[in-house]
Amino acid sequence: MLDWYDRNHRSLPWRSPPGTAAPDPYRVWLSEVMLQQTQVASVRPYFEAWTARWPSFAALAAADDADVMAAWAGLGYYARARNLLACARVVAARGGLPDTESDLRKLPGIGDYTAAAIAAIAFGRRAVVVDANVERVVSRLFAVAEPLPGARPAIRAGTDTITPDARAGDFAQAMMDLGSMVCTARSPRCLLCPLRDDCAAYAMGTPDAFPVKAVK
Ligand code: ADE
Repeated sequence: MLDWYDRNHRSLPWRSPPGTAAPDPYRVWLSEVMLQQTQVASVRPYFEAWTARWPSFAALAAADDADVMAAWAGLGYYARARNLLACARVVAARGGLPDTESDLRKLPGIGDYTAAAIAAIAFGRRAVVVDANVERVVSRLFAVAEPLPGARPAIRAGTDTITPDARAGDFAQAMMDLGSMVCTARSPRCLLCPLRDDCAAYAMGTPDAFPVKAVK
């Protein structure tokens, strides 16, 4: 996956290229909060405008609430913007983001997924990062028979077994990119997939049957 990522990663404004210094934690945090409920293509222009206006936790912490809410308009889910500002103020006051999942989870607007993503991507910690793309890739790789949401513990355990100690942030983003470009919901491009030889769903001939849909 890491070799595949080195060659095929999406170049996104909150990332730094593989093999270079870790990206700025502020940019990682901001992108992960924006991406919680909004697609990459929609987040991109907001992220660019936001970081030009407020380039750091300190700058954002000093912003007017009304300006922040107005700049968020269009991304939706205003609770996220309120939490974002509350979080920026806590982080600016303590002098930076904490670098562990458990401390990150204590901050406003940071849940299990976001804490794991920040710990891995910004701080190089080994963390098990499972978003909707990763869920699809892993449910296929292990042919998880149970439908969502009951499949989540098995998917998490499967992700844990394949997460490396080194470059966990690149690994997580590799899984996201694979899910968005190759292991797509419909018509997955299995012939391009670096996991094909290990993929249980591919071996069964039915990759798009996973994740299994609950019978209504
Ligand atoms: N979705 C959530 N986090 C992401 C990231 N770091 N890169 C691409 N897509 C994402």
